[in-house]
Amino acid sequence: MIKIFIIIFSIYSAPIVFSAESAPCGDYGECDDYSYDLYNNESLQKGLATYINYCYGCHSLKYSRWGRIAADLEIPEEILFENLIFNQETKPGDLMTGSMIKRNAEEWFGVAPPDLTLVTRSHSPEWVYTYLRTFYEDDSKQYGVNNLVYPGAAMPNVLSHLQGKQVLGCKEVPVIASNGGVKRDENRNDITEEKCGYLKIKESGELTQAGFDSLIYDLTNFLVYVGEPAKRDRERIGWYVIFFFITFTALSFLLYREYQKDYH
Ligand code: HEC
Repeated sequence: MIKIFIIIFSIYSAPIVFSAESAPCGDYGECDDYSYDLYNNESLQKGLATYINYCYGCHSLKYSRWGRIAADLEIPEEILFENLIFNQETKPGDLMTGSMIKRNAEEWFGVAPPDLTLVTRSHSPEWVYTYLRTFYEDDSKQYGVNNLVYPGAAMPNVLSHLQGKQVLGCKEVPVIASNGGVKRDENRNDITEEKCGYLKIKESGELTQAGFDSLIYDLTNFLVYVGEPAKRDRERIGWYVIFFFITFTALSFLLYREYQKDYH
């Protein structure tokens, strides 16, 4: 009997013991919430522009074509070619294979920057949204930065001039009692303790924090779109299909009732 209790207890307590290690966003813990909006073309267009300007030099989108993106995001092709495509020989039907040579990249970064077409599916939109906002200064690293979500990442912090310089700092946080409430002393004041590992901006950048979050929102939204360009059509058509099923079931039921009348 005791053995059974021990087995049941260990099964239920395992996630608690290991939860810190397997947190979805690494040292950051839970990822920040993210909900994509694939019908917001303005956001997707802004995300595309940020991607081409700051990411495409290293990360290809090799399962995606220029023309498809232009059509889906309603960007006239001549505007796309004038503003975002720098290689004169590119055609609308070409895949977005990027320009970086893999061997050079491996030499520079130790690891080649991966293709990002499917990154919001191999990780999650929440992971990508949080990852891009959690770089911090760390002199022990090659590029002087580290990342809370992906510790030891070999990627330089390419957006630091927009976000500002982040460092890890400490702050006073309330002590939580075993019942889940905040611990208080006899005068009913909250008891706090100093904890470290929190991000704070040391030197502000060109954007406010809200401005930077919104830039990364749009960038992640674009990456969700690129991961499955047919997703918004699929989700839109899905509603019609469900609507059809409901109406069809209602009509069949009425017909069934009509037939039943003849039997009795
Ligand atoms: C100077 C080159 C460079 C630029 C520019 C760059 N990255 Fe990276 N990125 C890397 C490298 C190298 C890695 C691989 C890190 C590793 O695995 O240690 C990486 C990794 C990533 C990852 C994690 C991928 C995975 O599957 O683990 C994401 C997401 C990412 N980059 C997004 C971006 C975005 C978005 C931008 C534009 C704002 C960007 N990167 C700009 C070099 C770059």
